Amino acid sequence: MSAPADPRTTETVDLLDPGLLADPFGGYARMREEAPLVRALFPGAASPVWLVTRYDDVKRMLSDQRFVNDPANVPGMDVGDIRRQIIRARGIPPEYAKYILGSVLDADGADHMRLRRLVSRAFTARRVAGLRPRVAEITESLLDGLPAAAEDGVVDLLERFTYPLPITVICELVGIPEEDRPRWRSWGRALVSTEPGAMAEPLREMVAHIGELIVRRRAEPEDDLLTGLIRAHDEDGDRLSDVEMVTMVLTIVLAGHETTAHLIGNGVAALLTHPGQLALLRDDPELMPRAVHELMRRYGPVQMTRMRYATEDLTIGGMPVRRGEAVTAVLVSADHDPREFPDPDRLDITREPDGRRENHVGFGHGLHYCLGAALARQEAEVALGALLRRFPDLALAVDPADLERQPLPGAWRLARLPVRL
Ligand code: HEM
Repeated sequence: MSAPADPRTTETVDLLDPGLLADPFGGYARMREEAPLVRALFPGAASPVWLVTRYDDVKRMLSDQRFVNDPANVPGMDVGDIRRQIIRARGIPPEYAKYILGSVLDADGADHMRLRRLVSRAFTARRVAGLRPRVAEITESLLDGLPAAAEDGVVDLLERFTYPLPITVICELVGIPEEDRPRWRSWGRALVSTEPGAMAEPLREMVAHIGELIVRRRAEPEDDLLTGLIRAHDEDGDRLSDVEMVTMVLTIVLAGHETTAHLIGNGVAALLTHPGQLALLRDDPELMPRAVHELMRRYGPVQMTRMRYATEDLTIGGMPVRRGEAVTAVLVSADHDPREFPDPDRLDITREPDGRRENHVGFGHGLHYCLGAALARQEAEVALGALLRRFPDLALAVDPADLERQPLPGAWRLARLPVRL
């Protein structure tokens, strides 16, 4: 017997629908106009999730403490069942689930504050500004290598530039030695793969690797994040457990490179296909911070947040959400909501009136707002600025319609970015 129909909506969106993957902007525009909440099925999940589609609702929901990230904080909820679903859907070996499900992103309240505070000092605007010269140096040395890497004048900018830059920056910050960085890059790729079971082996290797690094760093402390975490663990053990220490490194390295690589990649592709905007930026490099805000809004690489769970019956945009139900903020939908951004599909790097204010939600909103936002923005500013300066004739090497994207639900990422220098 089928379950009784839920009167709230008739449609259930399949997030792997090829039409939606190819054109999330059009797909979410339709949903957003239809209803503030749309029911969706995540790949591998048994129960549906409510997608929050409108800008105001997204901001309100992400700052509403009645929603939690850890389902264990919902009174009376069978958390085991949800965890089993997530573990099964993502192909995580059960004994490794603790490293994936216990991150700062999955924590609420005092636990979340404790975890976030341990690392937030490394990511303040001031600390990030201090890294700028080093980010510029890494950028220049990668750009030096581009001409020699070109074959028949063509180079894949993702492979040679937009990936290596953020992985180098985040690994230096954390304290991962140079020889180990290529492995992190391939682990990062494996983790976003939609192939069943693709996550198991990389996860085992990453956890083992972090364990070895901790042993080494304990013997030889350095001025890096890893050393800071070891101190927090060893000197004040109840502030950070063994598992939490590994999970934090895993979270920061993974969150810190894939996303930034694709912000820069999407940004280059967008500028090369919008010659008017590119000319504006070339004429006035001071526009760069604004351009990065607008590129994040228009082509942000992360299109939805993690799931939140309602701790009580409530409403979003006038539609009821019941206790225990899961909701996800569709950031790409909020950032194309014409109620907030007039003519939302137009890329306009002069859009922000004061040039600094960030009103898009591509980095999230509320207590879980991206820890690395200032760093990611800075890397994008430095990378795009240097690339445009060094290569005045930079152009796509393929027809824009042939730019291949990764078929990932909730993400907007290129598979390759072939350019002529
Ligand atoms: C959280 C996006 C770069 C570390 C988030 C969230 C988003 C996001 C949307 C909130 C998720 C949610 O609420 O469910 C991005 C994008 C990036 C980027 C688009 C690049 C363009 C980085 C970098 C780091 C980082 C460079 C390195 C430290 C984190 C962490 C969280 C987070 C640790 C969890 C914060 C918390 O739960 O309190 N990011 N991120 N991200 N991001 Fe980023």
